[in-house]
Amino acid sequence: MVTATAPGKIILFGEHAVVYGQPALAVPVSQLRATATITASEDSDCWIEARNLSHRYRLTEARADDVLAATIERVRPLILERWIQQGRQPRLAPFVVTIDSTIPIASGLGSGAAVSTAMVRALMAYFDETPSEAEVSELVFESEKLLHGTPSGIDNTVIAYEQPVYFIKGQPPEPFTVAQPFHLLIADTGLPSPTKITVGDVRAAWQTEPARYDALFLTIGEIANTARAQIEHGEPEALGPLMKRNHTLLQKLSVSCAELDTLVEAALRAGALGAKLSGGGRGGNMLALVTPETQKRVQAALEQAGAKRVISTVIGE
Ligand code: MEV
Repeated sequence: MVTATAPGKIILFGEHAVVYGQPALAVPVSQLRATATITASEDSDCWIEARNLSHRYRLTEARADDVLAATIERVRPLILERWIQQGRQPRLAPFVVTIDSTIPIASGLGSGAAVSTAMVRALMAYFDETPSEAEVSELVFESEKLLHGTPSGIDNTVIAYEQPVYFIKGQPPEPFTVAQPFHLLIADTGLPSPTKITVGDVRAAWQTEPARYDALFLTIGEIANTARAQIEHGEPEALGPLMKRNHTLLQKLSVSCAELDTLVEAALRAGALGAKLSGGGRGGNMLALVTPETQKRVQAALEQAGAKRVISTVIGE
């Protein structure tokens, strides 16, 4: 039996604009994890067991758009190719993949990419292979395309590399250093919102008004660049105003919603230095920048304003 895990993620700055070539910053969230366990099959078939969804099925019976099955189908040839190079028999014994995850689905926390990453890591390890981070990221990107349509690649990158990344689509990721750790609260609206839909809506809007949307994306990209510099210079409190500006721009892209705005306003009223939605938007999660002094008060305010779950995390610890 082999088990592997992968973290959730948050986008600090730059979601949506990153799909159009602008930079974005993302960090892994290790409190949230997806786990994949591989065991030998008791019959001649491969099986997938998604514990969260209470669903167990044969790989051969998976639907064409099944992301878990698609991940397996992409990992298998890579393992076989390596085995052939090593002069081993290219035949993999049937296995069972069991998935568990504490990352809420469709909530902007990278659940899909984390599950695929855990699967790739576990399958490769089960068959005695060690993939590079770039290989894992590339394989998971293929699954992300099934799930999200036209993803930028930021989710698979930050999760596979498991470190803070400055990301520009199509370029190698740049890990960045957090000179001074900072506290964030991650609050869940409880509204599931598939990224595929918000990304598709932004694309349709961009196609009707390209100049307006390009200008919004560019400003978001500038914010991401400034934020990276502040984080690397150890001035995290300066991120507060940048988060507020990024949220306003995301509202202009029409990817916020009443529930997210309510949580952002509640956090700011309670003393958060900044707040913004994170991920695809129209539901899912938001972030609030707090200090050890304001953390409790802001958390209570978020819960009172309707947050279904609040996670406290320290970036750069
Ligand atoms: C999703 O975590 C981030 C988005 O920018 C989509 C993407 O980059 O693929 C909304």
